Amino acid sequence: MQPLRIALTKGRLEKDTIKLFQKIGYDCDSVVNKGRKLILPIGNGEIEIVLAKAADVITYVEHGVCDLGVVGKDTILEKGESFYELFDLGFGKCKFALATQKGKDLYGGYKALTIATKYPNVTRRFFEDKNMDVRIIKIEGSVELGPLIGLSDAIVDIVETGSTLRENGLEVIEDVCPISARLIANVVSLKMRKQEIEALVDLLGKEVDA
Ligand code: PRP
Repeated sequence: MQPLRIALTKGRLEKDTIKLFQKIGYDCDSVVNKGRKLILPIGNGEIEIVLAKAADVITYVEHGVCDLGVVGKDTILEKGESFYELFDLGFGKCKFALATQKGKDLYGGYKALTIATKYPNVTRRFFEDKNMDVRIIKIEGSVELGPLIGLSDAIVDIVETGSTLRENGLEVIEDVCPISARLIANVVSLKMRKQEIEALVDLLGKEVDA
């Protein structure tokens, strides 16, 4: 039987996920000492970890080339869902927030607001729910620059510790929604490899709840 393939978001989520797999008894030395390798067997080779960027984790799971994936709710909300979201892994906790310069009266003017963000879909839905017409400008990173250099009135971005906002004289105006890492599954894999996936999900779930 082919190993169960799990697409894993590189970086912070990678470390917490590997810790979790170690806790439920998998030997993960291949990932810990991975060098530049991107496909890594763990345990006795019954699971293969595929390291990818967050948005690509979803692409691999949707296309069925990976059975499972670990990805942040931020990417899920932005990119959409044609997969199953199995459960909240309880780490990678942060939030989406609307932020701007400290003390600024964001809603004081008459003009439609301009919002800079890496997450245009999340931002559009947030303001649609408020019945507010805004102009959205997509930025690829360091979104905090938007209001600071006069590109936008505010930003919608991820806030974890709040340090980036604080150190740049910005503050949260409103929380958009909480974020954390999720385990996702390909729809067909969930049917074809039901027992294997359920057994793994059971072990992971118990450890997350412990
Ligand atoms: C994220 C986010 C904020 C920062 C928030 O950026 O976009 O900039 O982290 O974290 P904090 O509240 O703990 O300061 P990331 O580090 O992913 O880089 P980016 O700005 O290039 O997207």
